[in-house]
Parts: sequence; C-alpha cells; structure tokens
Amino acid sequence: MRKKVTVVGAGNVGANCALRIADKELADVVLVDVIEGVPQGKGLDLLQSGPVQGYDVMVTGANDYEPTANSDIAILTAGFPRKPGMSRDDLLLANFEVVRTATAQIAKYSPNCILIVVTNPLDAMAQAAYWVSNFSKNRVVGMAGVLDSARFRTFIAAELKVSMENVTAVVMGGHGDTMVPLVRLSSVSGIPLTELMDQATIDRIVERTRNGGAEIVKHLKTGSAFYAPSAAAVEMAESILKDKKKVLPCAALLEGEYGIDGLFVGVPVKLGALGVEQIYRIKLTETEQAQLHKSAAAVKELVDVMKSKV
Ligand code: LAC
Repeated sequence: MRKKVTVVGAGNVGANCALRIADKELADVVLVDVIEGVPQGKGLDLLQSGPVQGYDVMVTGANDYEPTANSDIAILTAGFPRKPGMSRDDLLLANFEVVRTATAQIAKYSPNCILIVVTNPLDAMAQAAYWVSNFSKNRVVGMAGVLDSARFRTFIAAELKVSMENVTAVVMGGHGDTMVPLVRLSSVSGIPLTELMDQATIDRIVERTRNGGAEIVKHLKTGSAFYAPSAAAVEMAESILKDKKKVLPCAALLEGEYGIDGLFVGVPVKLGALGVEQIYRIKLTETEQAQLHKSAAAVKELVDVMKSKV
C-alpha cells in the first residue's frame, strides 16, 4: 500500500512539498488549507503533472481533515509568513493559533503519524505541536537545521568552487539569529573547512548563513523562502518514509542532552520509520556549548510566552 502524507498549508512551502513528494513518488499527498479552492486547485494541477513527470501518486486537496485520515506523516507548513523587517518571533502568537488548530485535527485523524513542523518560529511551533498532539517525543520533529545547513553548504561550495555534494556542514540550535553553524565540524570531502578558508571568509559565510532567511525575505518583499525549505522538509519525510535513518540536524525535544531540558532545539538526529530514533550528543567546545545555550534561551523565551497563553 502506498504511503500517505498530509501537507497542511497550500502556500508556497506546502505546495512545493507536495510537488517534491509527488516527483519523488514517495506517497499520496493530501493538501489541506483553510482557503477554499486553493488546495483543491493546486492538488489537481499537481495530479495532472503525473503523466508528464511519470509519477503514480494521488494528490488531492481539502479544506477539512477527514480526507487526511491515517496519514503516515503530516507536514505542518500553515502560518503567516515573515514580511520584511519582521522577525520570526513576531509571528509567534498568530502562528501558535494556526499550529494548535491544525495539530489537533491531525492528531484526531492520524493518531499514529509523525509530525514534521515547518511553521515559524520553528522551534516554538514544534514545541506547540508536541503539546497539542500528545504524541511521544520521537514523533514530533522540526525542520530548520537541514535548511540552515543547506545554506551554509551552498555558500561554502560557492566560495571554494567545489561541488555542493562534497560539502558537509552542521548547524545546531534554534532557527533564528542565534543559530550555531559549527565550523569545526564542517568539511569538504573530509577536509576541515578551517584548512580551506581563512577566518575572515569563514566569519562572513557564517554570518550570511545566520541571515539566510532574511536575505531572501528582503529580495522577495512579500514572503519568505520556499524552494529550499520544502526540499529540506521532504528530505526529512523521505528518510522517515523509507526508513533511511539519515543523520540530519533537526529540532527535537531535548531532555537533558547538551544540558537543555524540555525544549525543542536543533541537534543532529537519526530519522527513520519511528521518527527521531536517536539524538546525537556531540562533544562541543566551551564556546560552542555557550552559543547553543544562548540559542536555547532565545527559544525558551518564546516557549514561555506561549505557555502563558495555554
Ligand atoms: C527561512 C525562513 C522561512 O529561513 O525561516 O527562510
């Protein structure tokens, strides 16, 4: 039987998730959105790409959650996007409401699914989905580290004029200005980054990575990135659906790892059929650990604001 993925939110991120899932023939897709006609129209359009692209998956759209029943994965992308000058945090309470409503419906119709949260502010929204769903912690995971690392890798590859495929990089922490690109653990085919670039260049690339989302918002003016975010979310979905057990930086609930307790923060995890199957504890330097704690503190501030509204 085919797998089934629900994508909540038929905007740019959601529609591109659906497109990528169909193109990779990973699962049937149900696109859900509150706007009447949009998920149905985009779903049908995607379905009609099947004969050309050569995929045999069903893509449908709906304004309610009944058609999503028994999904293997739900990707939550619904929410208000960032406008220029707006921080991810400004979105907090508005999107908390969106995620709360969507998660309750998903949990009702697909009580055994795995939730991939994409809505910003990412780490706080993953926490909200965890609270509302009551799912075990391995079944709620946030997408940010894959995207932030992809940006880091892109800039490294461009600077060195090498294949993007050769570049590995890890970005930990929250999906915000305090994210922690780990230069020490970044390499090109095993060659440490620090042997390939001077410190000033590394610093410039780290800074550009931290502001990677804002750079795109500034260009687009009316919204935020969606091609790379959807690619990142679908890489996570694929690892789960195929039980590939990829090791990817994702927002996961920490319970003491890295000295952080009860918070969703980006760390390297193993993603397989059970969702977050393992959280890796890397030995960090004192500086890295301090940066991670600073980032976790920024996430905690948001979570505390949400807590006061529950
Ligand atoms: C970004 C926004 C969507 O990083 O958070 O592009």
